[in-house]
Amino acid sequence: MVKELPIRKDSVRLDLPPTPPLTSESSSDEVDASSASSFTDTPNPPKVDFPLPPPTTIPTQVLKEDSKTPDGWLARDPRLIRLTGVHPFNVEAPLSALYDEGFLTSPELFYVRNHGHVPRVEDHEIPDWEFTVEGMVEQPLKLTLRELIEEYEQHTYPVTLVCAGNRRKEQNIVRKTKGFSWGAAGVSTALWTGAILGDVLRKAKPLRGAKYVCMEGADKLPNGFYGTSVKLNWALDPNRGMMLAHRMNGDVLRPDHGKPLRVIIPGQIGGRSVKWLKKLIVTAEPSDNWYHIYDNRVLPTMVSPEESAAKKEWWTDERYAIYDLSTNSAIAYPAHDEKVSLTSDDSTKTYNVRGYAYGGGGRRVTRVEVSLDKGVTWILSDIDYAEDRYRDAVPQNLYGGAVDFGWREASFCWCFWNVKIPVADLAKAQDVLVRAMDESMNLQPRDMYWSVLGMMNNPWYRIVVKNEGGVLQFEHPTQPALMPGGWMERVKKAGGDLTNGFWGEQTGGEIATKPVLEEIKEVKMTKDGVNRMITLEELRAHDKEDEPWFVVRNEVYDGTAFLEGHPGGASSIINAAALDSTDEFMAIHSENAKAMMPSYHIGTLDDAAIAALASGDAVETADAPPRPIFLDPKNWRKSILHAKKVISHDTRIFTFKLDYDDQALGLPTGQHLMIRLRDPVTREAIIRSYTPLSETSKRGYLDVLIKVYFDTPGYAGGKMTKALDSIPVGHPLDLKGPIGKFEYLGQGRYTLNGVPNFSPDPTSLVPSVAPLKTLYMICGGSGITPIFQVLRAVLTNPSDHVRCVVIDGNRLVTDILCREELDGYARDYANRCELLYLLTQPADDWTGLRGRIAAPLLKERAAREKHAGGEAMVLVCGPEPMEKTVREALFEGGWKAEEIIFF
Ligand code: MTE
Repeated sequence: MVKELPIRKDSVRLDLPPTPPLTSESSSDEVDASSASSFTDTPNPPKVDFPLPPPTTIPTQVLKEDSKTPDGWLARDPRLIRLTGVHPFNVEAPLSALYDEGFLTSPELFYVRNHGHVPRVEDHEIPDWEFTVEGMVEQPLKLTLRELIEEYEQHTYPVTLVCAGNRRKEQNIVRKTKGFSWGAAGVSTALWTGAILGDVLRKAKPLRGAKYVCMEGADKLPNGFYGTSVKLNWALDPNRGMMLAHRMNGDVLRPDHGKPLRVIIPGQIGGRSVKWLKKLIVTAEPSDNWYHIYDNRVLPTMVSPEESAAKKEWWTDERYAIYDLSTNSAIAYPAHDEKVSLTSDDSTKTYNVRGYAYGGGGRRVTRVEVSLDKGVTWILSDIDYAEDRYRDAVPQNLYGGAVDFGWREASFCWCFWNVKIPVADLAKAQDVLVRAMDESMNLQPRDMYWSVLGMMNNPWYRIVVKNEGGVLQFEHPTQPALMPGGWMERVKKAGGDLTNGFWGEQTGGEIATKPVLEEIKEVKMTKDGVNRMITLEELRAHDKEDEPWFVVRNEVYDGTAFLEGHPGGASSIINAAALDSTDEFMAIHSENAKAMMPSYHIGTLDDAAIAALASGDAVETADAPPRPIFLDPKNWRKSILHAKKVISHDTRIFTFKLDYDDQALGLPTGQHLMIRLRDPVTREAIIRSYTPLSETSKRGYLDVLIKVYFDTPGYAGGKMTKALDSIPVGHPLDLKGPIGKFEYLGQGRYTLNGVPNFSPDPTSLVPSVAPLKTLYMICGGSGITPIFQVLRAVLTNPSDHVRCVVIDGNRLVTDILCREELDGYARDYANRCELLYLLTQPADDWTGLRGRIAAPLLKERAAREKHAGGEAMVLVCGPEPMEKTVREALFEGGWKAEEIIFF
């Protein structure tokens, strides 16, 4: 009985530097560790024949990628593969490196899934870390970590954590999900030490009717603190092994893994194991935390991103929430791209094919089978259940906790399987497949179950065998993140249908018949012969209006010569000065614009400068004073989708929330802002400019009217509008601005590229040079939004006497946006506002104009001759073909370039 074993309180050594963990020295992951006697308390230390942690090296170097992020204080292992760009930190180890560490993973290679920044806790603060137990309990508790260790029994046992997205890249290749691309190493195992969750909950005495335990971390995210819940009866069940852990492989938790305290929920998806634990809340209902609702679900396969965004009920249906892991396995060796040379004595040689497998909910993996003939026949592998060696060990103290779970049947860890295959058989095979089954006979499926979040992917793991002139070469399904490689990508590119039940191949091994897609060639943006290396200091010295340099993909461009000609106005170049503008540039510019770049190319950033620019986002600290104005022309600012109002089948008003209720937006009339959303899979930025529908003076929020361009047969739809439509309320996005070359100041005064149309008299605001008398506003479809903003500013200002002529072209009458408001203005300001609607597909009873906006109409309604120089101007916004027609017609009608503004 473990109770008879004194647990050394001092071995926890909270206020001392971390205890060096006991590690295995030999190449094997098992040791006869009589040398481990100092960690055991029995008089005659038992033979330790369970695996001990692999050697560990605590990283000491803050990596350059992290230096500019909110985690810029945290040293990490450079071998980890980043899955979501630089920040937040979501990583997996290379699969072979993970497997080579053995049953236990070192904390520095253990996969990390962080939704945001890592809360910083210094060693001396660990003992005083507080958390609460509250909600439906008779005895609410506030405990420090010191009390948790001193007042509760401590236990040590191994548990494998797996991210629900493990192997998601395979799904993303079939069809993009909302999740980023994990390879097959989103899984790791450690020895955890801590108190049993049920013991703490029992002390708080849950009340009748309580059914769930909600958990909340200290990481504040755009949608609140990270949190989730599990069922209370599970938490109280010792067989479930739920733990409040403060040690990992014998050492205090590393920051990325929840330092100083986290929950460990064995057998379930990693998302339930809340890190940096601050609160346990006992409730009658599952957690209402945003991350519990909108994450970790397998929605039915037919629920598209659009459908899932439109109906909240999909997310609140507990049947689709995932808890227990599904049975899964993967091949570690042969590794991706590994080569085996065939020789004449291959008839006697074998290759040890090996990998990992895990089950869910504590269910043991009972078989792992390998097939060399596409699943017609199977070979049974050997399985090593290392977890059982702890289970079978004499109860003893390890790292300040009792190793004593011989009574528990559950399997909470991965197992390693292997099977020796004759090399001659491998040489004949086209692929190697593996599948696992658990004790409930849950068998991995052959076919993938695709779902919108891309979770719990567990079809047979398949590697392709290629025989290239006597050398066998192996190809895994994918490589993690954006790394190229893998048979899935190859087969898809070649037109194979990955869902045909034969991995995109025909049974003969050939790729299925779809036509080969042509690779899209990238436009070259550098100039041959330019080889100057540019330092950060040099770049920073060009943060100026007269000589702005900017960076795209680490190449430096001098924008000076383009300040005048840039269609977005000089300010868009000046605002990018001395910054990395890759995202904005690549997202907004056409292939033609990219082709102009070599003329402005002057050099390449040096490594130090690249590191320093690694994160272009403004890092705001929690204690930074509130900013009076939200928009910042140089930095992206975080905002939250606050509400979505459906106006029609394809039109929505999106409301975005600023930092606080009274904050001013900071957008001049006539200007726009950029919205940035990240493609959840590729992390590629989608950026578009919009003009708010709400008054620019509105505080705390802004409304944007957006027409969603859906996919139609043969037409791919709008990337941004579809993405915006599919994100749920509460989703974060970034805003930046203002941008635009035109600013309307009122009473016919404006500036164009910062140059006023009046002589500024320091003592008076009365214009001294020809103010505008007429504004022509020509728009099509959703092009009404920037027009509407200026129109409203002119008409609703009683001292503004400018006359507006609006020509608004659409297809159907139902396509006219803001019609009610426009009609209202035309009625209320009839002497100053003429409103003309034009439809290309009008109903028979349409009494307005018919056809497209073209030269004859413009000659009649927007005649240049009626106006003296400087008295009239034309604002245009609409689809590209419409703008082209309007431009030509206006020039033909005598308008000059500087009199026309294209938004
Ligand atoms: N806890 C907090 N507080 N914040 C998080 O972002 N991520 C969850 C879970 N706990 C998360 C969290 C997810 S999705 C997983 S898979 C695991 O932590 C990952 O644990 P690890 O990073 O220690 O491997």
